[in-house]
Amino acid sequence: MSSSNMKIITVVGSGLIGRSWSMVFISGGYSVKIYDNQPGQSANAIKEIRKQLEELEGAHMLRGELTATQQLALLSSYDDMAQALEGAFFVQECVFEQLEVKQSVFQDLERLVGTDVILSSSTSCLVPSDVFSKVQNRSRCLVSHPVNPPYYVKLVELVPHPETAASIMDITHALMTKVGQAPVRLRKEIDGFALNRVQAAIIAESWRLVQDGIISVKDIDLVMSEGLGMRYAFIGPMETIHLNAPEGIEDYMKRYGVGITRVLNSFGPVPDFCGEGSKSIVNEMCELIPNDRQNLSARTERRDQLLMALAKLKKDH
Ligand SMILES: NC(=O)c1ccc[n+]([C@@H]2O[C@H](COP(=O)([O-])OP(=O)(O)OC[C@H]3O[C@@H](n4cnc5c(N)ncnc54)[C@H](O)[C@@H]3O)[C@@H](O)[C@H]2O)c1
Ligand SMILES: *[C@@H]1O[C@H](CO)[C@@H](O)[C@H](O)[C@H]1NC(C)=O
Ligand SMILES: *[C@@H]1O[C@H](CO)[C@@H](O)[C@H](O)[C@H]1NC(C)=O
Repeated sequence: MSSSNMKIITVVGSGLIGRSWSMVFISGGYSVKIYDNQPGQSANAIKEIRKQLEELEGAHMLRGELTATQQLALLSSYDDMAQALEGAFFVQECVFEQLEVKQSVFQDLERLVGTDVILSSSTSCLVPSDVFSKVQNRSRCLVSHPVNPPYYVKLVELVPHPETAASIMDITHALMTKVGQAPVRLRKEIDGFALNRVQAAIIAESWRLVQDGIISVKDIDLVMSEGLGMRYAFIGPMETIHLNAPEGIEDYMKRYGVGITRVLNSFGPVPDFCGEGSKSIVNEMCELIPNDRQNLSARTERRDQLLMALAKLKKDH
């Protein structure tokens, strides 16, 4: 097995995220071997990707320098894990979000690849020390957490196991940059990583404000989509405050730090998301957008169209 030329990536699990990663990697010119343990599933994934690449090319939204046909030629599908791993220097795991399933997949992977092959997990909610607990040599293991849909939302959180080698973080960071993603490094693992921790804080305060009768579901969503979100597509909270006082961040905190602390101290406890108290929020949301398949898909499609347009805008600026 040779992984010396660093041209082949294996994607393990060909669901939503496995297909997206495959599209991202081929857009950067890598050969991608897709494996799924459901026979025929990885072949189906390629059919689905072909359709998407053709649509993207038609819409002038195809990523990378290669045509859709050239990118498709880089893809192959496997029902056999060992064959799928042959020649790969990097493995991106995208199987079900179940700890036991991931642990056993990484045990198999370690058995089948050389010691220099990087083993990367797409997990959104499991920490590396759990995911890789059954791997012997964890220095080449890490989490590369994408955001859905990765083709338009480019952030990737790189999260090390306590034993992950710095060089493995560096190589993965370079790979993600090369294929056009936007990698960030966490210096150590933490439950929720960075993105989901920030998201949890936003969800919690939004939920409390609605539950406490301060604002409607519709209006709290507008606070984000027409307010904070307008900036956050381009600058984060740190640059936001840096620009919002004449002399930058320190000046901002001199002026507003006390107010922010006062507001933070008034935050309520973790809300009840599923009990009696959640029912009126659920009803209010479902009145705006009924939770049947049709309505939800229509809104999902709208979201992805808008994300595509935003990705284009960001690319051009
Ligand atoms: N969907 C998202 O929004 C999102 C975002 C970021 C990260 N993730 C993470 O990505 C991973 C995959 O999520 P998804 O939404 O693509 O799931 P999915 O259910 O769409 O796909 C999982 C695929 O893995 C295959 N699979 C299951 N066990 C396997 C095994 N032992 N070996 C090989 N293949 C196997 C399944 O057949 C299926 O095709 C999860 O860890 C999830 O947390 C998902
Ligand atoms: C563990 O993995 C690292 C990084 O890939 C490698 O350099 C090292 O030789 C491996 N150690 C063993 C004991 O296999
Ligand atoms: C959305 O839901 C409403 C009410 O359930 C239904 O009448 C309508 O057909 C749905 N719209 C779409 C696009 O599915």
